[in-house]
Amino acid sequence: MRGLFITLEGGDGAGKSTQITNIESFFGSKGLVVVHTREPGGTHIGEKLREILLDKGNGEMQDVTEMLIYAASRAQHVRELIIPALEEGKVVICDRFTDSSIAYQGYGRELGKQVAEVNARATGGLQPDITFWLDIDPETGRRRAGKAGELDRLELEQLDFHYRLYDGYKALLEKYPERIKRIDASRSIDEMRDEIYAYLEELCAARGL
Ligand code: TMP
Repeated sequence: MRGLFITLEGGDGAGKSTQITNIESFFGSKGLVVVHTREPGGTHIGEKLREILLDKGNGEMQDVTEMLIYAASRAQHVRELIIPALEEGKVVICDRFTDSSIAYQGYGRELGKQVAEVNARATGGLQPDITFWLDIDPETGRRRAGKAGELDRLELEQLDFHYRLYDGYKALLEKYPERIKRIDASRSIDEMRDEIYAYLEELCAARGL
């Protein structure tokens, strides 16, 4: 039996962490084993790559280098953790996946189509069963992220970068309407949770869970 692969996406400050906790409880109450992981990171090697990527001191990092390091973290993650967990029938909840690279590197950094190509190699074509895009307008998201703590290298980018990656998520939603569900993140945490749970109930019913 194959498990379920669920990803959360969105600009910074959209409230992913809270909804991940909710999704964990949803599956926990069904008695399913949940693996909560994140990108970049999720493995020993991935977490080391994460440090390099988010370090504010790495201002000289080239855009292509950045794209490849995100993809390297993902390649390791997919093979070391995600696929084995899915093969054991577990529910894998991943904070960001390939859509982040398409939005941030493809649109934000304007690297275009090569990002999808590189990531197809990194993931071997693995796609989530469902993706929640927590949609918050870039200005509000940035304000919230700033309040939550110190901003990392990506978060410190100018607002136009954040508007470009926002356009990236909108384009992804149009391209994958079956997989990606837009969740309006300007609403309350509970309203968002209820909508996410409704989608998860549908998914579980379709998979006989
Ligand atoms: P996080 O703050 O949600 O943990 O994500 C770390 C940062 O890395 C965030 O600003 C988004 C960015 N990012 C990319 O630019 N490309 C990617 O492929 C991923 C996974 C994250």
